[in-house]
Amino acid sequence: MDKFVIWGGERLRGEAEVSGSKNSVLPILAAAILGETPSVIRKAPWLRDVDTMLMILEATGVTTKRSFDGDVTIDPSTLENCEAPYELVRKMRSSIYVLGALLGRLGKAVVSLPGGCVIGPRPIDLHIKGLSQLGATIEKHHGYLIVEAKKLKGARIFLGGPFGSSVGATVNVMLGAVKAEGETIIESAACEPEVADVVNFLTKMGAKITGAGTPTLVIEGQKALHGAEHEVIPDRIEAGTFMIAAAATGGDVTVLGAEPRHLEAVTAKLKDAGAEVSIGDKRIRVQASDARRATDLTTLAYPGFPTDLQAQFMTMMCVTPGVSRIVEKIYPDRFMHVGELTRLGADITMDTNSALVRGVNGLSGAPVMASDLRASAALIIAGLVAEGETLIHRIYHIDRGYMDIESKLARLGAKIRRLKSD
Ligand code: EPZ
Repeated sequence: MDKFVIWGGERLRGEAEVSGSKNSVLPILAAAILGETPSVIRKAPWLRDVDTMLMILEATGVTTKRSFDGDVTIDPSTLENCEAPYELVRKMRSSIYVLGALLGRLGKAVVSLPGGCVIGPRPIDLHIKGLSQLGATIEKHHGYLIVEAKKLKGARIFLGGPFGSSVGATVNVMLGAVKAEGETIIESAACEPEVADVVNFLTKMGAKITGAGTPTLVIEGQKALHGAEHEVIPDRIEAGTFMIAAAATGGDVTVLGAEPRHLEAVTAKLKDAGAEVSIGDKRIRVQASDARRATDLTTLAYPGFPTDLQAQFMTMMCVTPGVSRIVEKIYPDRFMHVGELTRLGADITMDTNSALVRGVNGLSGAPVMASDLRASAALIIAGLVAEGETLIHRIYHIDRGYMDIESKLARLGAKIRRLKSD
């Protein structure tokens, strides 16, 4: 397994280009199979999760083609099989998006149930509730979900869960509803930009949807959809990771190709923490100041501060004077990074879903273990600020969601090298 070795202490400076959004492209690739003709998805990031989604689509008979400039062509005219096998689904939870897409296209989906997850329990009860309200029957057999409907029928569906709205359930229900007979109204829909991006793509395919980006989506089902061309939105979590890395290392970084509107909570929190943030057209500049301040943070559904940046922000707070309280409201157990940050010298006390971070003067490099995608990003930031050498094991997690991260960081002055496994 590859590792990263980082020699800390460099202030990041320069420009970093953001790739297309992982969490947009995955549902969009699944949505493309709802069309009768091919779709072309532009700016698809070159990531392991994208590879996995393409393999799942190919397992259903869909033809896929990928070019080095980021275009992915999906030809669903050869779709023949409604099963997404365990060997592929177990690699990535967002495989669950093929549930709604296969149901909408073929009237049947057999998808392996996603298993446990290191960031805590990740139920799919809301996906199931929504699809069954569209008229699908749902059974579980030998680790597989079998979802079937002779005819999907529009319905009024409330999708709020114990932790608010669900991105995945909103998308899955929408993928069924665009092919259902009549009108579907989804209440408490997720407002994340990635959901709005899926709506934009489906609209290009001929779907009729209003309310993108709001908690109420109204969908007028269509008999058939066609292929479309679409460019995915920039990855706001990758952009936010560079923004936080800039502030944490005392640097000055301009993130290019980002959508500032998608990062308002992050911008506000960085300013609270003492950084200077200036916004331009598709660019955000973060300049660290010497007066970094402790800052409390609560993760929330969009437009709140994203859970996918909690670990990275916590890392910055570890080396910020004062006491910061970080509350996780989306995944109460998403704190696997805490133990590793503590190995580097951080002072963090956990209390159920909140962490009390007492800023220390500095971290000191050590070998650490990445546990998931965003925890890996946090450990990279920790390595960049730590004194000496940090060795990060299990970086295959980072390859799932950050394209070319080491070259992008190296261009900003980071001393980082990938050690390839034999
Ligand atoms: C998406 O996951 C993202 N993944 C996650 O990013 C992100 O952390 C999450 O949204 C929240 O923003 C993709 O887009 C591929 P949810 P998703 O359903 O859709 C609860 C990353 O690092 N819930 O919005 O699976 C759930 O347990 C990943 O890129 C139910 O209770 O998340 C959580 O508390 C990690 N029942 C909350 O809702 C359900 O049926 C939000 O989850 C579904 C979810």
